[in-house]
Amino acid sequence: MNAVDKRSLPRNASPPTGVKAEPPTGMKAEPPTGMKAEPPTGMKAEPPTDMKAEPPTGAKAEPPTGMEAEGYRALMRHQAGAVTVIATGQPGTRAGLTATAVASLSDNPPTILACVQRKASAHDIIVSSGVFSVNLLTTAQQDIAETFAGRRGARGEARFLAGTWATLASGAPVLVGALAVLDCRLVDRHDFTTHSIFIGRVLAGRWDEKGEPLLYFRNDFWDLTGR
Ligand SMILES: Cc1cc2nc3c(=O)[nH]c(=O)nc-3n(C[C@H](O)[C@H](O)[C@H](O)COP(=O)(O)O)c2cc1C
Repeated sequence: MNAVDKRSLPRNASPPTGVKAEPPTGMKAEPPTGMKAEPPTGMKAEPPTDMKAEPPTGAKAEPPTGMEAEGYRALMRHQAGAVTVIATGQPGTRAGLTATAVASLSDNPPTILACVQRKASAHDIIVSSGVFSVNLLTTAQQDIAETFAGRRGARGEARFLAGTWATLASGAPVLVGALAVLDCRLVDRHDFTTHSIFIGRVLAGRWDEKGEPLLYFRNDFWDLTGR
């Protein structure tokens, strides 16, 4: 539904038949030259000095220091997330990691973001190759999630023995049989402490109508019906 800004309508909203609400030709909505849209001197957009946004005495706006990492991790374990594998590189030098810190950024143009720790073996290969894929896993692919999280001992190319891998548009490896794959070109990167935020322009994708998502919640893998 289109929202209509009633503030721009006259009090009697519907103009008489045949009369148009637009100003006559030659008349402009801008203020005449010399007239400024700013409020007159003395009138400020800020709240008056005696009006304060602070909470009442006794309530604290924020703790004096931020949370510790351990408490933060305990909190974030309660954010149920889709389990993905981020994969990159060319055959022979492929690398990948299991990741939940992935989100849609925009549909115009189609872009996603992925947060990857700089020490992950795939990190520098994403930067140098300029391509990566995000593969959303199904409940049948928990083994692949464990492998790409480094829990099975395999590293680099050896991780790709788990599952069947192909390519789409970018040349990055994409997982055959994933719930959905997003094939991306790296278009931007932001560094923040231990991680990079990679922004990928989605070039191509595929999905499986029947697959069920693999989820991660409270330090464990789940499906939509339970653990
Ligand atoms: C469920 C789950 C989610 C994870 N999410 C991320 C993530 O979003 N970003 C990240 O950098 N590492 C994440 N990790 C950790 C990496 O998968 C793990 O450190 C991996 O071993 C890094 O690759 P490397 O062994 O090649 O360095 C996650 C691990 C698990 C089990």
